[in-house]
Amino acid sequence: MCGIFAYLGPENPLATCVRGLKGVESRGYDSAGIAGFLKRREKKQPRGKKHRGEIFFFKQTGSVDALARNIPPEKLALAIGHTRWATHGKPNDRNAHPQLDASSEPAIALVHNGAIDNYAHLKHLLERKGRLFRSDTDTEVIVQLIKEYYRSNLLEAFAKALKELEGSFAIVAIHKDHPDQILAAARSCPLAIGWNAEKKEHLISSDPNAFFKRGDLKVTFLENDQIAVVREGSLEVFDQNLEAISHKQVPFSARDLPEPSKEGFEHYMLKEIFDQPAVMANMLSKRTKHFPFLDELVPYTNAFSEIDQITLLGCGTSWHAALLASYLIEDVAKITTRAEIASEFRYRNPVLGKNSLVVAISQSGETADTIAALRAAKMRGVRTLSICNVNYSTLVREADHTLLLEAGLEISVCSTKAFTSQMAMLSLFCLHLAKVQSIPVADVWNLRSLQSIAPMMKSILGKKEEIARVASRYAHYKKFIFLGRNAMYPASLEAALKLMEISGIVANGYPAAELKHGPIALIDESFPVVAFCANKQTHAKMVNNLLEVKARGAPILAMTFEEDQEIPKIADDTILLPRGLDEWSLVFASTTAAQLLAYEIARIYGQETDYPYDIDKPRNLAKCVTVE
Ligand code: M6R
Repeated sequence: MCGIFAYLGPENPLATCVRGLKGVESRGYDSAGIAGFLKRREKKQPRGKKHRGEIFFFKQTGSVDALARNIPPEKLALAIGHTRWATHGKPNDRNAHPQLDASSEPAIALVHNGAIDNYAHLKHLLERKGRLFRSDTDTEVIVQLIKEYYRSNLLEAFAKALKELEGSFAIVAIHKDHPDQILAAARSCPLAIGWNAEKKEHLISSDPNAFFKRGDLKVTFLENDQIAVVREGSLEVFDQNLEAISHKQVPFSARDLPEPSKEGFEHYMLKEIFDQPAVMANMLSKRTKHFPFLDELVPYTNAFSEIDQITLLGCGTSWHAALLASYLIEDVAKITTRAEIASEFRYRNPVLGKNSLVVAISQSGETADTIAALRAAKMRGVRTLSICNVNYSTLVREADHTLLLEAGLEISVCSTKAFTSQMAMLSLFCLHLAKVQSIPVADVWNLRSLQSIAPMMKSILGKKEEIARVASRYAHYKKFIFLGRNAMYPASLEAALKLMEISGIVANGYPAAELKHGPIALIDESFPVVAFCANKQTHAKMVNNLLEVKARGAPILAMTFEEDQEIPKIADDTILLPRGLDEWSLVFASTTAAQLLAYEIARIYGQETDYPYDIDKPRNLAKCVTVE
């Protein structure tokens, strides 16, 4: 949550920083700001609305685009920038980062990701010493602490301040007495420092994907409680006690990282939905040529052949992928499998055996609770695997094994292609496990069904206009319930989450049988039911459930297989999924159709109401949840 970008090098630092912030914008987008040192020391005040002393800064509520439009084009020697997702204090200009010490000529400018748990206590102590605070943020406490400890040695003051902090942080700061340097530090929050030897430039970001098109870099990922001092052409890293430490530099090609582009689609979400057939085809053609499907796990075949318990972890959509896979793995690979929400798992003292495997699933690899849950599993000595879309992310760096999704950058906060990639990778993982454990895989579910997913998705995407017409009949409702049974239950949870997060419409998913244990009390003609009916094993039961809600007047929108003779007679609207698909492929099919449905309902609802919608950046959300 929140994005950081900083630049020290020969290019225009302000422009480079604005461009870099665009690359982390989906991390938080309620306000944005930049600070730096003016290149020319001149008496004349720049046109910036708040230039004081030698530090130039500009920050405001709103997007990076708005910042880019309004920031005076000052020539800076270096720049640090931030795009915010509010944790402490409302999204407004005052609380936007950079935060500065409250003097009339600020000495320190600082940007921060994360949350300081003991900020209230520290603020109280500082206020008793007479320090004035101008914002409601926890971040300002860090600035004031540095100021409190600063005599002439900035590094010492910085380290002393960090020792006082409880919580998580990635921090980047500058001080007017040290205009040649940027200080950075991290604890439980990602912070990458890239060095381009050719261009002689340093780039700092909370996400190395923001280094797109910056050539071949050497990247240092700061570890917990490390402090970095970045100067022109040099990077020094220290531990908390200011002992210099040698830091790992990972070769990182930012040359091929694509610059984010909607490629002509109205939203990233739609583009990413349409990316899916190619992503599936790429993963499956590469991975299914021969057994073993997962080359990365081959050296560990013995260990994986003994796994007798699997815990799949994730948050939000990634938890839905976990839940789906738990049905599949038990069914196909016959291994006891449970899916847990990462934030719950970490506090429940789980029982894990010596042959347990913990799988952490995440698009970003930076979700705080998923990382904490992985660490909790590692503390218990259990083998861990991450399934992740972002290479070099914390999860990837910390898990024993990793399966990279390679779905390409996912920009929209609403996760679509990452989810179906997770499902596909988990399917391969399931087949891999079955093979190494010598479990015969039934014919109903095999590689052929996986290989049909890409063309099947294409045919669903071909129904976009039809789905948009259906959506237009439902876009005026204010609340929805999504129902499914068996693997269609997690699919319905995921579909409900998609609609809810991008439209602001109330949408909940339930196992269809649970309806009569409570939610049916809500059902009437104002409350549509979206029914996932394509699970053949539970089809007859779904028919009964739909008759029950129909009797109570609920509008019914169903998704089912093309051969279905019954559901279309009950439902008001039916989206038919391609003929001849097996149970598991029907989950992919229902999911793809539900993504389009959510997108179209949100688009129409947003246009027809005054809901402040931006499908790619839903209100209050962020792409990456790095606070717990
Ligand atoms: O990066 P992760 O997969 O770990 O993120 C987990 C959730 O925050 C994420 O899936 C969230 O629920 C999405 N906004 C859903 O579209």
